Parts: sequence; C-alpha cells; structure tokens
Amino acid sequence: MSKDSPKKLPKTFFVKNYGCQMNVYDGERMAEQFTDQGMEAVDDKSQADLVVLNTCHIREKAAEKVYSEIGRIGKNRRKDKSEQPMIAVAGCVAQAEGAEISKRSPSVDIVVGPQAYHNLPEMVAQASGGKRAVDLDLPGLDKFDALPKQRKSGPTAFLTVQEGCDKFCTYCVVPYTRGAEISRSWSALIDEAKRLVDGGAKEITLLGQNVNAWNGEDNKGNMQGLDGLIRALNRIDGLHRIRYMTSHPNDMTDGLINAHGDVEKLMPYLHLPVQAGSDRILKAMNRSHSRDSYLRILDRVRAVRPDIAFSGDFIVGFPGESDADFEDTMSLVAEVKYAAAYSFKYSPRPGTPAAVMDDQISPSVMALRLERLQALLGKHQLEFNEEAVGRTCDVLLERKGKFDGQLIGKTPWLQSAHIDVPGLEIGDMVRVELNEAGYSSVTGKVLMKEAA
Ligand code: 5AD
Ligand code: SF4
Repeated sequence: MSKDSPKKLPKTFFVKNYGCQMNVYDGERMAEQFTDQGMEAVDDKSQADLVVLNTCHIREKAAEKVYSEIGRIGKNRRKDKSEQPMIAVAGCVAQAEGAEISKRSPSVDIVVGPQAYHNLPEMVAQASGGKRAVDLDLPGLDKFDALPKQRKSGPTAFLTVQEGCDKFCTYCVVPYTRGAEISRSWSALIDEAKRLVDGGAKEITLLGQNVNAWNGEDNKGNMQGLDGLIRALNRIDGLHRIRYMTSHPNDMTDGLINAHGDVEKLMPYLHLPVQAGSDRILKAMNRSHSRDSYLRILDRVRAVRPDIAFSGDFIVGFPGESDADFEDTMSLVAEVKYAAAYSFKYSPRPGTPAAVMDDQISPSVMALRLERLQALLGKHQLEFNEEAVGRTCDVLLERKGKFDGQLIGKTPWLQSAHIDVPGLEIGDMVRVELNEAGYSSVTGKVLMKEAA
C-alpha cells in the first residue's frame, strides 16, 4: 500500500487511550518504546508529531469516537504537508476494521493491532518514508519479549498477565479483536512485577480480559492458577497491594476464592461481571453461569472475606430481554448491593451472534431500563461509602486533587479518598479514618503517615 506524502520522523508523540485498563497498559508500553527511541512525550496533542489513538471496539459509540478524533486531528494540520502529524490507529478498532480505516480516513498513516504494537518503531519509520504501515497479526505473546524491560511507574501500576478470551459471549467482540486466551509466563510476570516495584509501584493490578483464567508453570514446574501467582507476588518486598481484573465467574476457583481470605496484600475488592440477572438472558448471552451459581460464588468470597467490595458489569436491552428479565437484573442488584458497577445499553457489534438475533430492543426501552438500573446501583454505591464512614484504613495517595494541598488515593475497597493534609506526597501510604462519604468518593482524616 503506498501513500505519496513522506513525513518527517516524529520527535514528539501523544498516546490517547480509549476503553479498558488493558489499553492503558498497552498505551504505556507504546510510550516506553517511543521514549527509548529518543522521542519525547507531549501533553498537548496538537503539538505532537505522532498521535497514537489506542482504540476500543466494545460498543459502537467507543468505535465511532475514533473517527471523529481522526477528523479533528486532520483539521489541525500544519501547512507544510511533510510537517503534518503522523496518525496511528492502534487497539481493537484497528484489529476489527483494519484496512477499512485507511479507506474511511486517508490521513491515517499506521494501523496496528493490539498484539503487534511492538513493531511500532519500524512502522513509524516506514510511514515517514510515505508508505502506509499496517500490522494486524495476532502472534500471541511476541510483543512482551520485544518491549523494553525497564519499567517506570507511579504508585499504582497495571500488569497484563493474560490476553484474549475463549468465552464467546454472544454480544462481545473481544474474542475476535484480542484473539484466544493466552497467559504470559510465570517468570516474565514475576520479573516485570519486580521491575515495576523497583520503578516506584506500591500497588499492582493484574490485568486480563479473563484475568482469572491465567495459568502457567511456576519456576519448579508446577501448574499454577492466578491464586498461585498472587501468592508469589505477595512475597515481593516493597509491594503493598495486589488487585486483579476482569474475572469471569466460571474461572473463580476455590484457590482464588481462598486467596481472598488469607493473602495479606490482596485487596478486598472483586470485579465480577454478571451482565444480567435472568437465566434465560444469561443463556442467550452464552455466559455459561446462572444467576444462582454467580450468587453462590459471591457468598463464598464473602465467607472468607466479610468486608469484600463487589463490583460488576451489566448490559441492559440484550435482544429478547423482557420486562420480567430486566426485573431479574434489578432483583439481583438489590440482593448483591454492589460497591461499584459499570452498566451499558446493549450495542450490536458486527460479526457477533447477538447482532443478528431477533427481537432487538428499542433505544427508548433501553434508556429507561438503564436509568432505573443506574439509579439503584448509584444508591448502593452511596450506601457502601456511607457504611465505610468511621472505618480506619490505609490510603495509597495517587494524584493531586482539585484543591491546593489535596491529594487523592484509594482505600482498600477501591473508593477514591480525598485527603487534605499538608506535607503528604503522591506515593505515600497513610492511615486514615474515613469521615465523610459521597456517591463517588470518601474523605479521610489522617491518623498516621506510615513509612513510604
Ligand atoms: N454492548 C454493550 N456492552 C457490552 N459489553 C461488552 N460487549 C458489549 C456490547 N456489545 C460490556 C460488558 C463487558 C464490558 C467490558 O463491556 O458488560 O463486561
Ligand atoms: Fe467478552 Fe464474554 Fe470474553 Fe468478557 S468473557 S471478554 S464479555 S466474550
């Protein structure tokens, strides 16, 4: 494929992430490669010689955003053609729509899928020669070997342990855009976790589309599941907190459930999507768990870790969802009382079985259902935060707040905690008493500044 406008080799870059935490991790790794090549990250996209849009294809809205963003960057173009910013489309839209992207948006120079971005430096060189570069291979784990080993980190870091999905829920594009389930090796992960801690991380969130499907041999040749990996990470000095997401109910093993009871650094929070509360809809979604089997898992986690905070994902308006089915979702939510949740209107995705199912639900019905569901989820989130008032816990300070001297961190239950005490720094772990609660955050009174 040729493109006739050579561009200067970029000196500055900007990576814009859409979608999930996996993309945040990928975006960080892309940035590390560019920095390694001597390029400089800039905060203002309009100043960047190279703009990477690291895209999400999970719902139509997410995918459409990319095309409007390409249009906007196009408008900001510089006079001299060779000075125009180079545009790379990465991530799941790239994987799903491939060459179509360059047809629809001719200003795109690079199209690179989520398993091929380790080739970006070469692709940038190719594009600057005026040749459009496209790489949509799904080679599995090659990229991890090719990426820079050194990891710099803020107090919290993501670590991708597993990619892809074999579950094939009928609404979901992930098995097509991210490929089959594949686990990174034990030694690569322990090594990267240590490097992240050396680079400043105190908390690591293990990531995967099906993170709890992770498995692999440990350094003694024994097969381990995610719980084994978590137990090994628990022994890393300097690491204070471990989290993981996103899990599938069918991969919640006894070992992983028990880890919540006895692994000191594993935080009391579990993101376990259910999607719907009606068995009929769960079956049509090909979720391979029932309402009851899901609820039983939560009971077992609660039994070993009574203060566990649950969060979930929900889809309203899946094809064929009746009023009664939707009420089943509402009653499940009322039963669980999630501490946090993500809820979406069903969005038909090309190539998925649900997109061609009969009885698609009208947008107005979906909107009403989503409104009711979110009102209930919001009420529970507020209640969860209010119930936490009076508790003493540690907060890991992650970023600056809106006000002078204010810092924001996370409680063990992943609540955002606002702390207004002079003399603290990002990266400090402080002991606080939670004293106020809102819908999306709590505030804490500092009792003790622990060793950083
Ligand atoms: N429409 C709406 N929501 C979806 N999700 C995945 N696919 C779709 C879709 N086609 C939601 C699920 C999943 C989360 C990441 O996105 O709730 O858990
Ligand atoms: Fe998509 Fe289902 Fe796989 Fe989650 S488990 S990534 S919703 S197919």
